[in-house]
Amino acid sequence: MNPLNHVAIIMDGNGRWGLRNKNSRNAGHKAGLNTVEKIIKETIKNKIKFLTLYAFSTENWKRPKKEIKFLFSLLETFLKEKINDLNEQNIKLKIIGKKNFTLNLNKLLKLSEKKTFKNKRLQINLALNYGSKSELINAFKELKKNKEAINEKNLKKYLQTKNIPDPDILIRTGNTKRLSNFLLWQIAYSEIFFENKLWPDFNEKDYNKIIKKFKGIKRNFGKI
Ligand code: FPP
Repeated sequence: MNPLNHVAIIMDGNGRWGLRNKNSRNAGHKAGLNTVEKIIKETIKNKIKFLTLYAFSTENWKRPKKEIKFLFSLLETFLKEKINDLNEQNIKLKIIGKKNFTLNLNKLLKLSEKKTFKNKRLQINLALNYGSKSELINAFKELKKNKEAINEKNLKKYLQTKNIPDPDILIRTGNTKRLSNFLLWQIAYSEIFFENKLWPDFNEKDYNKIIKKFKGIKRNFGKI
């Protein structure tokens, strides 16, 4: 059976779910947050050490201002209400992506990271203002600046995911088969699962089905 250390998720389909069910994209984001909480619990139950969630991409800035504002207010409320609880559950929160939001949100994110820094049970990497291409360009710039040889070991040091094992599983919900600039380097050997359900409809049973399927896959990593 394959060991499972890291699950990464592209949580797609909130907008469509919201429009279909409540006539509002933002209602879909709110419902999506409930799924986030369910999946965190299930990740702990499965004793998985790393969970990476794509919450906001560098491209998502192109959305209407109202939706962006709603997403960040949702995040802010979530952190304010839940960070102590996450801390008590021994969960570490790490932000991957550039923290260039409002002063208040930047502060809250840094504080949340600091508060949970030593926790060991599960590390949640929240990808916010994250884009894989800019992450890679930045890493190459660092190599050049520090006059270091271009190789995998050196490059990894400058990725946002430094010290995090590559995802074993990548899940994308929402019935779309694309990678959307997410962890392009890190998923070189991940098992990819495209799920038809929209993120707010995705549940523990769907998650466990994927985990079960993953465990039975023969992973070759280029060998035979
Ligand atoms: C993609 O669905 C989803 C997002 C861009 C936001 C993800 C946010 C959440 C799950 C809730 C907030 C999470 C936290 C941690 C506070 P989409 O809007 O692109 O859906 P669509 O493809 O149907 O339009």
